[in-house]
Amino acid sequence: MQAALKLTPEMSVETKSKATAKKAVTHPNSWVFFDGEFGRYHDIKLGLMTHALHYGTGCFEGIRAYWNEKQEQLYLLQAPAHYERLRRSANVMRMTVPYSTEELVNLTVELLRRNQFKSDVYVRPLLYASSEEIGVRLHDLQHSFFIYATPFGKYVEVEAGIRCVVSSWRRVPDQSLPARAKITGSYAQSALAKSEAIESGFDEAIVLTVDGHVSEGSAENVFMLKDGVFVTPPVTDDILEGVTRTLLMSLIKDELGKPVVERSIDRTELYTCDELLLCGTGAQISPVVEVDRRPVGGGSVGEFTQELQSIYFGAVRGEVAKYKDWTIPVY
Ligand SMILES: Cc1ncc(COP(=O)(O)O)c(C=O)c1O
Repeated sequence: MQAALKLTPEMSVETKSKATAKKAVTHPNSWVFFDGEFGRYHDIKLGLMTHALHYGTGCFEGIRAYWNEKQEQLYLLQAPAHYERLRRSANVMRMTVPYSTEELVNLTVELLRRNQFKSDVYVRPLLYASSEEIGVRLHDLQHSFFIYATPFGKYVEVEAGIRCVVSSWRRVPDQSLPARAKITGSYAQSALAKSEAIESGFDEAIVLTVDGHVSEGSAENVFMLKDGVFVTPPVTDDILEGVTRTLLMSLIKDELGKPVVERSIDRTELYTCDELLLCGTGAQISPVVEVDRRPVGGGSVGEFTQELQSIYFGAVRGEVAKYKDWTIPVY
């Protein structure tokens, strides 16, 4: 029998309706950082022929900052790790990030301060081919870089758990389009999987590799608990090497005292495991209670997943002394 779901402060904020993404909308007057300067969103103009718009030749990050109401403080989560991954993605795409990681973190803090956010925020840095010309390639192109930030709540609902379906779309293999690089063009594949899942009445897709192993969600990494061991697909199963995944691996070991194993996962292990969760910057920790119409574990949020959620949501809001170094205070 699963323990009853405890509502953490994070979880009590909104409704318990089923998972649908909250739309992050544009704020025309908000501050953005674009090609070396701070300016207003509505003053930025992109040409119709911008290379990346046509060919997906960009790479990006998604970073969260969490508002702590009691402390009146905004905590930027894992910014250096995200910017390091941006650098690696850029290298795959024959691009160079035009700032050091320290400079990027400082620019992000400055951007958040200028916008005076007092809510949870999503930060989107994007490096892209800005040449305005026809011709698909990576070399010999100009690049632009911006950082945009917007108030942002939950990407998927995390309270009652989500219902997943194994996608009919397969994950792009490393030999076709490297999933470990966060490339704008790759997200057409995630969009195919996500819309198929939502329009079929599920909350999220779980995508398999071409050889049929579990890879990840449309924008999340996967963990399952089976026989007392947490298992997550290895970085060689066409996943994005998630920042949240790394954080969870250490929480599982240090807080739950459970082993974490990186190994390939078969589809039917999703039906037979004890607990299942998706994790990511957007999705945070999302318990999965059903896959392909089969209940996972007891069909409700697992005990260890709940425990992870409660530690994670405290840590990201700067409330756990031991994990203070996960975040950077903005104000
Ligand atoms: C395809 C994909 N996998 C996994 C993740 C989770 O990565 P992270 O924890 O770094 O946000 C994301 C989110 O960006 C993603 O887009």
